[in-house]
Amino acid sequence: MTEPPARPEPERGLAVVLGAGGGLGAALVEALQRPEGATGGHVLALGRSSTPAIDYADEASLHNAAAWVSAHCEAQHTELRLLLVASGFLHGASGQPERSWAHLEPAYLRQVFEVNAIGPALVMKHFLPLLPKTGRCVAGFVSAKVGSIGDNALGGWYGYRASKAALNQLVKTAAIELKRRNPQALCVALHPGTVATALSAPFSKSGLNVRQPAVAADELLSVLAGLDASCSGQLVDYQGKVLPW
Ligand SMILES: NC(=O)c1ccc[n+]([C@@H]2O[C@H](COP(=O)([O-])OP(=O)(O)OC[C@H]3O[C@@H](n4cnc5c(N)ncnc54)[C@H](OP(=O)(O)O)[C@@H]3O)[C@@H](O)[C@H]2O)c1
Repeated sequence: MTEPPARPEPERGLAVVLGAGGGLGAALVEALQRPEGATGGHVLALGRSSTPAIDYADEASLHNAAAWVSAHCEAQHTELRLLLVASGFLHGASGQPERSWAHLEPAYLRQVFEVNAIGPALVMKHFLPLLPKTGRCVAGFVSAKVGSIGDNALGGWYGYRASKAALNQLVKTAAIELKRRNPQALCVALHPGTVATALSAPFSKSGLNVRQPAVAADELLSVLAGLDASCSGQLVDYQGKVLPW
């Protein structure tokens, strides 16, 4: 006889990954499915192909997915302890990252801001209220070092940089509000380093430290496990280093 699936332990809770169909998102889900993972193997994966599906072009999809997660928590007597947002956009049908101001195009700018900033902002609106009001819980938004204004020495990639800088500001702002609700909660922006995914493929030059998604996922999860509430509202890289805004 097969054993019924174990109930999540309430103190370990549940993890939810958005952007779970992407290279890094899928690797985060796989790592969190292991019983020794942060939430004891309990993870829900949401993306444009999941059921329910989430798409940043459709706010109702986020509202519905958050209601579904909330109902899941209630039925399983558990709580959302880890929210990871691993979605992102750099290149596609609407365009490529710009090398010069001469290449700035409204359609591409709209797309990078929609996926990298507006979508995660709506995730904050619908999912941060699901985090418990007591005890440690973490919301991690995958950003990028190129979104750091202080670190920008090379220029280029106007839209992607600006959209990730907007995401960083959203994370900082949400961290302040979250702390008022639960002083032990964290909201952080994460730089995963260069990871071998469809997003980075056209730009991965030799000499860059390109890591496999499974390696990058383990690194990010171990950094997150070591952060305390004083790290909330910061941009942290895959080695645990705090990056300038
Ligand atoms: N790879 C790198 O070297 C690198 C470096 C620095 C930062 N990052 C950041 O790391 C994160 C993960 O990127 P990745 O490398 O894993 O890229 P990826 O494989 O291209 O995954 C991107 C993800 O974004 C989701 N997405 C795109 N448009 C969306 C929309 N309108 N609504 C909802 N989801 C949408 C995709 O969903 P579908 O699965 O449904 O297509 C996919 O899950 C991103 O934030 C990226 O900016 C990556």
